[in-house]
Amino acid sequence: MTNGVPQPAFYIFKCQQSAPPGMPKPSCVSQNDPESQQLFQHLGQKLMTKGLIQTVMPIQTGCLGRCQLGPVMLVEPGHTLYVGLTRDKIDRIIDEHIIGGRVVEEYVVPEEMWGEPIDPASVSH
Ligand code: FES
Repeated sequence: MTNGVPQPAFYIFKCQQSAPPGMPKPSCVSQNDPESQQLFQHLGQKLMTKGLIQTVMPIQTGCLGRCQLGPVMLVEPGHTLYVGLTRDKIDRIIDEHIIGGRVVEEYVVPEEMWGEPIDPASVSH
């Protein structure tokens, strides 16, 4: 058995896309919604206070293609997309999904917005 550098158990990709002012399109970080601007920082703080900063890696990412349902974040492994995030929802996701191992189903993207993955082999030429 080798003793390599430990890797995170989870990666959390938080959409940090913000639409330019005046854009009608919704975005996960919005100038009209101060809470949306603080969610990534809140996620980091929550992981820190729970002692999880080594085992859960929070990553700021661009648009994940489900803007109408934002703010969103993707938890890997598992392709679990959480939508409509608030600070309280993030706290619950860390406690129940990351620590407890149970997906918080009520915050997960509706199935009609998140179908089966497309198999790359089925579309590759
Ligand atoms: S802006 Fe976040 S999913 Fe598109």
